[in-house]
Amino acid sequence: MLRDIDRVLIDEPSLQVRVAELADRIAADLALDVGAAGDPDAEGRVVFIPIMTGAIMFTADLLRRLPLKLSIEMVAVSSYPGASTRSRGAQIASELPADLAGKHVVILDDILDSGRTMQLVAGLVRDRDPASVRTAVMLDKPARRAVDFTADYVGFEVPDAFVVGYGLDHDGYYRNLPCVATLKPEITGDGA
Ligand code: IMP
Ligand code: MG
Repeated sequence: MLRDIDRVLIDEPSLQVRVAELADRIAADLALDVGAAGDPDAEGRVVFIPIMTGAIMFTADLLRRLPLKLSIEMVAVSSYPGASTRSRGAQIASELPADLAGKHVVILDDILDSGRTMQLVAGLVRDRDPASVRTAVMLDKPARRAVDFTADYVGFEVPDAFVVGYGLDHDGYYRNLPCVATLKPEITGDGA
């Protein structure tokens, strides 16, 4: 796995520092919202929706830093068939939680690329009448945006390159890299 890396863009300590910063901001913002409506620890009011599978690392690191009573409801969206490095549009591959009415929802993803995935999920969540909807992504690749979408919380901006690690895959692999990196062109097929 390591020999396939071309360049490390964000190392592990930097990711961890940034996740901690995002967790503090998200916790503070949610505490205001939830607290304003009464008991800040009221059960079932805060729901995190990680978009599988890319959001696994971000979700695990972020949520362990949130001292809030919350539940986790995963959704699956597919956009990159197989070894493709180009998005083909987003499709929901699992049911969204039905009961989001009155809840404070935070949608999590690994990266905001074209924006289609987040736009799709955020739209479906809003249809369910939640009290609030926030979106957080570890990475943002604004150069590739195809729809008008901005995330509320962004870890790092990345250049217009296909990246892997910290949840992001190429053909199902490299999600377990603890850093964010680019792959050698012979691996992605870009240089062929
Ligand atoms: P979007 O719908 O184009 O914004 O794409 C978002 C999804 O595509 C993310 O959830 C990722 O799983 C995947 N994705 C986007 N860019 C990359 C990348 O550079 N490497 C790996 N996966 C990516
Ligand atoms: Mg994804």
